[in-house]
Amino acid sequence: MQRKSLFRLPQTLHFVRWVHEPIGGMPIMTKRKIPEEGQPSSFLRRHVHLLPPGRAVDLAAGEGRNTVFLAEHGFDVEAIDISNAALRKARALARSRGVRIETILADLDSYPIERGRYDLIADFYFLDRRLIPKMKKGLKKGGKVIFETYLTANRSLGFPGPENPAYLLRPNELLRLFQGWRILLYREGIFKEGGRKKAIASLIAEKL
Ligand SMILES: C[S@@+](CC[C@H](N)C(=O)[O-])C[C@H]1O[C@@H](n2cnc3c(N)ncnc32)[C@H](O)[C@@H]1O
Repeated sequence: MQRKSLFRLPQTLHFVRWVHEPIGGMPIMTKRKIPEEGQPSSFLRRHVHLLPPGRAVDLAAGEGRNTVFLAEHGFDVEAIDISNAALRKARALARSRGVRIETILADLDSYPIERGRYDLIADFYFLDRRLIPKMKKGLKKGGKVIFETYLTANRSLGFPGPENPAYLLRPNELLRLFQGWRILLYREGIFKEGGRKKAIASLIAEKL
């Protein structure tokens, strides 16, 4: 699940929207176990209070650990991913938690993010620099971006992640990508996850 290129599909995808509605607000898959790595991002959990609920999108949402967390915190949230299998798991997770999410099967290389649509755009562990201008346009004024991914330094730590520098942040790069925005929170360096070291940058910024 780490390298963007692993998931690139050759054919053009149609955008498929699938809205999951909980049945009576009750989980219907209570026996399904969510794996440990499926826990929401600790950065998101710790700082969700900085993100006022509204319309959100989780880009390259994978199995929806952060999408579902945002739905549980009052967001009306869409999950976009190129993997149907991942989105299926995201919907199952949403059902098991009794929350509503919308999943969109799409290639973000060509997906047209609607201008001014979102109060929050989340991007966790998916770096495509060409997406940044689209993300910026997709946010309302005062909208927030929460972004976390690996730094080039991660390669020498042995923590799983991309090897190709195209998918890794250079020092201070994430900060520079959001220059001119109000930076609410930024950290960069080596942090521990599950007792292992990883090199990441994390940001919450507001569109002025
Ligand atoms: C490392 S996973 C991160 C998943 C999720 N954001 C998380 O933190 O749990 C990267 C995700 O990017 C998705 N992906 C890769 N290329 C994509 C593309 N061109 N458009 C949309 N999703 C893509 C993959 O399917 C995968 O789910």
